Amino acid sequence: MTKKQQYKVTTRLVHGPEHSAKWDFSHHVTPPLSSSTTYRLDSAKRGARGFQEFGQLVTDVGETPVYIYDRLDEPTRSILEGELAEIEQGESCVSFASGMAAISAALGCTLVSGDEVIAHPVLYGCTHSLFQNWYPRQGITVKRVDMNALASVRAAVTERTRVLYFESPVNPTLELIDVRALRKLIDELNAGRSEDRKLLIFIDNTFATPFGQRPLALGADVVLHSLTKNLGGFGTELGGAVICPKSMHARLLLYRKDFGGILSSKAAWAILVYGLPTLALRLKRQQFTARKVATWLEKQPCVARVSYPGLPSFPQRELAERQLLDFDGDFAPGNMIYFELDPAQVEPEAFIDSLARSAYSVTLAVSLGHTKTLIELPSSMTHSSYGKQGGAVRLSIGLESPSDIIADLKAALTEVAKSTNANKNGAKVRAVR
Ligand SMILES: Cc1ncc(COP(=O)(O)O)c(C=O)c1O
Repeated sequence: MTKKQQYKVTTRLVHGPEHSAKWDFSHHVTPPLSSSTTYRLDSAKRGARGFQEFGQLVTDVGETPVYIYDRLDEPTRSILEGELAEIEQGESCVSFASGMAAISAALGCTLVSGDEVIAHPVLYGCTHSLFQNWYPRQGITVKRVDMNALASVRAAVTERTRVLYFESPVNPTLELIDVRALRKLIDELNAGRSEDRKLLIFIDNTFATPFGQRPLALGADVVLHSLTKNLGGFGTELGGAVICPKSMHARLLLYRKDFGGILSSKAAWAILVYGLPTLALRLKRQQFTARKVATWLEKQPCVARVSYPGLPSFPQRELAERQLLDFDGDFAPGNMIYFELDPAQVEPEAFIDSLARSAYSVTLAVSLGHTKTLIELPSSMTHSSYGKQGGAVRLSIGLESPSDIIADLKAALTEVAKSTNANKNGAKVRAVR
């Protein structure tokens, strides 16, 4: 065990690596922001070695790779990758320009034409679009199966199946997938398969982050992240990451070099210096507030249903308590809420428009995991690629005072609630409490 490993994860995220050839520890307290597109090579031999490391799929280049050119590798980005691999309890990590770049690279370097993916029916809208619009053109079939219906997953697997793909919690419904149960099934199905055809479990852990869930420890093979969200935390940087076994690392670096979707060193630096050290602090505060807001929403007569893993009414509460655990083992239900309004009482678009017009602490905007509370309508915005109607609302809780968020939501509901609403006995009913 290294000295660093004797400390709690929260402390490790503040301090970063104990020592590294990528950071001048004798002088810098904060890691330096490297910004050099190309690197001095002191001999032709060294240059050749650097290119070989990338071109020949070398799996482990040690602590001091030969830096050649920013698109291949560079120090700030690789310090961030080391930290992300460690907190996800994975062997290695490769970062990308965005979450979508990370998802398409992880799948792109695993799948070949003729392969099949089994994916959960509800996914982030652009991942759905990747599967609907692009994979059929590449000869890759994507079957949509409920990952909690293990008999259906078993029935859908064929010799061509390679990847099981899902988010947990699911964007935007917050449904959870039981990763341990799926691992058990996949181990059974993998028993007769050769190493290069083994089924792999890919999970997008963007909503929970490693603060709230470590999917590799639960049985996943590959973890994906949009760093743009909770891990970046401040809404200033786009980024993505794949945390994977060592055996996949070199292929991902080669893919990134050739497809070019690198994370900029400036974005990596901001995530390393601001995002990671404040991750636990932000998420603890946000989930404290999310619990209060979800509890309040659930009491409103004009709200038909609230999905939040921290509510006693959450349909998968027992699984949530087993799977969503923070670095200290405490329940971590997260900062995302999904709720449905009763359309007889409140028109969802009118509610959202009222917030956009009048609220100060709640902003109508997509994205999530920001310091600011963000609200949107998935069916017409982030998930419009599904082409489905529906008025459910996604709320990403920020760092504001809980009472201000509740007051802004209440004002909007009060403004747009239909005043003619009546209960079964004909008495007037208040839509908002
Ligand atoms: C669950 C999830 N995965 C992936 C992404 C894509 O991330 P990015 O916008 O960084 O490409 C998003 C974006 O909202 C997301 O919510």
